[in-house]
Amino acid sequence: MIKFDFNTYVNKFINLNEYKELLNQKDEILKKFNSYDMIGWTKQISKKIVDEIKEEAEYIKNNFDSLVMIGIGGSFLGSYAFSKMFSKYFSNNFEIIYAGNSLSSKYMSELLDYLKNKNFCVCVVSKSGTTIETTIAYELLKDLLKRKYLYSEVKNHIITITDEEKGSLREETNKEGYKSFIIPNDIGGRYSFITPAHLLPLAINYNLDSIINGYYEGSNLVDEAYNYAVIRNLLFKSGKVVENYCVYEENMAFFTEWLKQLFGESEGKNGVGILPISTIHTRDLHSLGQFIQEGNKILFETFFKIQNDFSMISYNDKSLHDINNIVLDSVINAHYKGNVPCIMINIDEMTCENISKLIYFFELSAAFSSILFNVNPFDQPGVEVYKSEIKERME
Ligand code: PA5
Repeated sequence: MIKFDFNTYVNKFINLNEYKELLNQKDEILKKFNSYDMIGWTKQISKKIVDEIKEEAEYIKNNFDSLVMIGIGGSFLGSYAFSKMFSKYFSNNFEIIYAGNSLSSKYMSELLDYLKNKNFCVCVVSKSGTTIETTIAYELLKDLLKRKYLYSEVKNHIITITDEEKGSLREETNKEGYKSFIIPNDIGGRYSFITPAHLLPLAINYNLDSIINGYYEGSNLVDEAYNYAVIRNLLFKSGKVVENYCVYEENMAFFTEWLKQLFGESEGKNGVGILPISTIHTRDLHSLGQFIQEGNKILFETFFKIQNDFSMISYNDKSLHDINNIVLDSVINAHYKGNVPCIMINIDEMTCENISKLIYFFELSAAFSSILFNVNPFDQPGVEVYKSEIKERME
């Protein structure tokens, strides 16, 4: 179960009449949302695709030592963040390595070296098929495959996930006959959690049905998602232009990276938008905590509290998890007293269902929030600017 508290630590910072007024605009915002042709992620994924994903995941597990997932941005963060949250800190899950999310030559040379003696396959994810980081990593790993395996075998080590028709990756896939999945036309990168781009790697180590069922349960949270968007909007108007996502478990760090991309890329346009940042507690209480408590009052916070944990570690008759939550309650109160509005998301347990449900909730909320800011939630024209700068310099 997930409970949202948008009011206790927020109300004194917003005008309640404006709050009611914006809440009353829900139907109008929903109408605008439904008019976009990029909301394919709200529709049920087909059983045929889910079965194919499961089959491919089994094939990978039974035939290789490792899978290298290649992709960046929306073609990377969803499954990476999710698997970070659910793999044990010291785990012996099937090995999935991520590549193509930077241009670090050190990372790439160590990866190529590491894979020399491994029986691996690669899964390249790119909706456009033209992203430079993804392309370079893919070409380098394909070279290694060509050196390790016979020409006729190489194609069995490559899976592509891309647009159905467009792009060079689709062309190559069709020509070489690679196993391939589709990112549907009506789903953009950062909203693509419920596509093979993320479900395939997750199906290898986790229960896919729980993930998918949990995700669509998020569709019952329309009111909460809209409420969250409204509160954020009002806080922004009152000068709180930064949102800090606070987590109390290191393994949620990449979930906050996913959130930063979702909100940053969706609403950061036309000179508006809330800057998403994150702190991992308790570590960052000993660094940014000072700024948040007493510094420039430009931010509000969203806390994630995990109610139950079954690790059974205790210290002085208190469970360590309870101590972590006592710190959370203390921090929220301290920050609130320091004039920092705080939103609380209370999750009864860290389960795949709960987290996928939250993913849907945040996707919905990021879209509503962007519409409230009067910007298109589903494009990212700003990202193209640096890409064309790169093009000029690479020619
Ligand atoms: O959310 C988005 O659309 C972007 O972050 C893309 O996912 C990212 O730029 C990668 O693009 P592509 O999948 O085309 O390689």
